[in-house]
Amino acid sequence: MAGGGFVDSGGAGRRYDGGVTFFVMFTCVVGATGGLIFGYDIGISGGVTSMDIFLKRFFPSVYRKASAEAVHESAYCKFNSHLLQFFTSSLYLAALVASFFASVITKKFGRKMSMFTGGLTFLIGSILNGFAQNVIMLIIGRIFLGIGVGFCNQSVPVYLSEMAPAQLRGALNIGFQMATTIGILAANLINYGTAKMHGHLGWRLSLGLAAIPAAMVTLGGVILPDSPNSLIDRGQRQEARRILQKIRGTENVDQEFQDLVEASEASKTVDNPWKNIIERKNRPQLIMAILIPSFQQLTGINVIMFYAPVLFKTLGFGDEASLMTAVISGGVNVVATIVSILTVDKAGRRALFLEGGIQMLICQVLTAYFIGKTYGTTGEGAFSKGAANFVVFLICAYVAGFAWSWGPLGWLVPSEIFPLETRPAGQALNVMFNMTFTFIIGQCFLTMLCHMKFGLFLFFSGFVITMTLFIYFFLPETKGVPIEEMYGVWKAHWFWGKFIPDEALGSYAKNIQLTEKA
Ligand code: BGC
Repeated sequence: MAGGGFVDSGGAGRRYDGGVTFFVMFTCVVGATGGLIFGYDIGISGGVTSMDIFLKRFFPSVYRKASAEAVHESAYCKFNSHLLQFFTSSLYLAALVASFFASVITKKFGRKMSMFTGGLTFLIGSILNGFAQNVIMLIIGRIFLGIGVGFCNQSVPVYLSEMAPAQLRGALNIGFQMATTIGILAANLINYGTAKMHGHLGWRLSLGLAAIPAAMVTLGGVILPDSPNSLIDRGQRQEARRILQKIRGTENVDQEFQDLVEASEASKTVDNPWKNIIERKNRPQLIMAILIPSFQQLTGINVIMFYAPVLFKTLGFGDEASLMTAVISGGVNVVATIVSILTVDKAGRRALFLEGGIQMLICQVLTAYFIGKTYGTTGEGAFSKGAANFVVFLICAYVAGFAWSWGPLGWLVPSEIFPLETRPAGQALNVMFNMTFTFIIGQCFLTMLCHMKFGLFLFFSGFVITMTLFIYFFLPETKGVPIEEMYGVWKAHWFWGKFIPDEALGSYAKNIQLTEKA
């Protein structure tokens, strides 16, 4: 099959002794709370920016445009404001810069140090935002939040992939995405409750409550052990062996420990991971770390996540119904992520990517059709109740498709394909590209909707077709393959194989190659 070069077609890869322990589950659940702050933030801004009292205070010109008096404004352009978009997207700009620095800290001081730093900066940001007196304070607060997100998104997926046993790596890593979706849903629910409050307390609570997940992550950064891979890499072999025994629940970790030491020794020959990452043997991983996060954002998911309440208002729903609808799509996001957790290590990454892509495509095309039919190109018109509900259904089906494919896999795959020496740098690239495109979409969506109208949904569907074909042809299956043996996957691939020299293969992958050749 195209693109389906496997190290082990059974998907099990090399088996080490030991299994899934309570301790590894515990560390992964605590580690995954890093996703909570990311999600909380994604979900909170759309709701807050649809609150009249917040708009009136910080963005009065948008308020005037969106308010009922502005009857002549096209439905597509009601909320078009660069400053409002910058409020949403400034965070992602900060996150993309921060993730570069995070990669250095993650490598030098360990994964948990980056989590701790991320939690703490996010805490400062949430306090600044909760007490904001003017737009400047709001935006500075968001920059702090962004630094927090950059540090956590860079370190948590790597940490989870390293702690997990290979056969459960997908499921445990998706804990990060699970926490992200829970964060989004919690934010949607909080917005729903606070929007009803009188005075400024509502938006202050919405923004300030981000301190709760921030405190959880900070605490996690204190109590968690570092990953054995990182400990070995930083010369703490005794401690690494002890942690490995504890997370695998067995004394006999010799084979896995040996592979980690080998990977670490190989990584010591590399003094500059950023130079190493552009070497030919890392070409497939590099391309994936750039394209997967970019494509993830080009699905258009954040149009829904950031602006769902605004979008539903555009569809003609009232304030309360819009926030409620955002809660419903947020709930679908959480439930569909569970489907991914349950299937990713059995069906594999490719099957989920391909199914999710096709589902999203169908929903986007239908959404464009119905919005176009109602509003045409003038933006004047109104949805019937039935049609509006059907569009909400389509949006939920689209969210589900994303939530079991590109959502979790956009974080999982880049975190598991790099060798130890370039893993933090590779993950930083992943975050940078993710955040760049998140920023662009956050910054441009309302303007794009105003100009491209219903065609915006078709615009994103074009990307969905491209990315689905890309996965089909170019992404090999990585389920069940031990993380330090990943070169073998690329070596066995019809296209990427020629980029990987034999010396790059670990002992296990080499054996597979020899068996295949024989
Ligand atoms: C993406 C976010 C998105 C979220 C939705 C994440 O994987 O990176 O941009 O908002 O999924 O659940």
